[in-house]
Amino acid sequence: MSQPAVARSAKALRAATAPWRKKNQKIALVPTMGALHAGHIKLVRAAGRKADRTIVSIFVNPAQFGPKEDLTRYPRTWREDLEKLTAEKIDLIYAPTVREMYPEGFATKVTLEGPALGLETDFRPHFFAGVATVVAKLLAAALPDYAMFGEKDYQQLQVVKQMVSDLNLPVEIVPVPTVRERDGLALSSRNAYLSVAERAAAPTLHRVLQETAASIRKGAPVGPTLVRGRRTIKAAGFKLDYLEARHASNLAPITSRKDGPIRLLVAARIGGTRLIDNMAI
Ligand code: PAF
Repeated sequence: MSQPAVARSAKALRAATAPWRKKNQKIALVPTMGALHAGHIKLVRAAGRKADRTIVSIFVNPAQFGPKEDLTRYPRTWREDLEKLTAEKIDLIYAPTVREMYPEGFATKVTLEGPALGLETDFRPHFFAGVATVVAKLLAAALPDYAMFGEKDYQQLQVVKQMVSDLNLPVEIVPVPTVRERDGLALSSRNAYLSVAERAAAPTLHRVLQETAASIRKGAPVGPTLVRGRRTIKAAGFKLDYLEARHASNLAPITSRKDGPIRLLVAARIGGTRLIDNMAI
């Protein structure tokens, strides 16, 4: 099986994709930070169904990591990623260097409000500016018709949708449902950090989301139901950052089902690992 071509610069990416564009072929981009798992493969397959050509970007983006976060230990598994993408028969990998993405003198940052307010931003204030800036650069370099984003990072998905709409970027953001282990744990490259005991406790987040969603669907009041869920998460050994009910598209705080479609969002640390998850009500 032949390996997909790899472009290391925006210029090389443009050169590789120009003939596709000339033939009016549709292009889908799957932005990733590598360490590919079944969740990423689901994005790649969804891209393959949408478009004629699939590009996967692999770039561990320093701008979205805080000074005390896991940038240096973030899993980098180039050889395995290449094998997986070869098996998926994608068309192109975009794997720019840090210098290519952030050359000396780089001075631009996307700032965000709306769905970027609160939740992740309360605990990782640098995060969405880093994500939005790199996603804007990836979209500008690849000029895709579609870009695939997992629902696992639900706030990220809403922030990217908002940016694309506000800046009139000519791309459709395609949400792809979360892939889970059999016990409900959402797939994440960071699951690799979990010890055996932490891995055993980790599905609590999904279980609490399910229980909270079921209670609210049956008519239980939102506030006290969240309080019960927060207690359960802490009792399982997590340090809870948040368990919140938000409006499903603008992520505004919500106090009752009448306020609109609800998305539950959770983030919590177990040992040295921070996990996030979410669920529709
Ligand atoms: O979700 C991710 O893996 C990253 O935040 C993304 C979208 C690739 C930007 O670096």
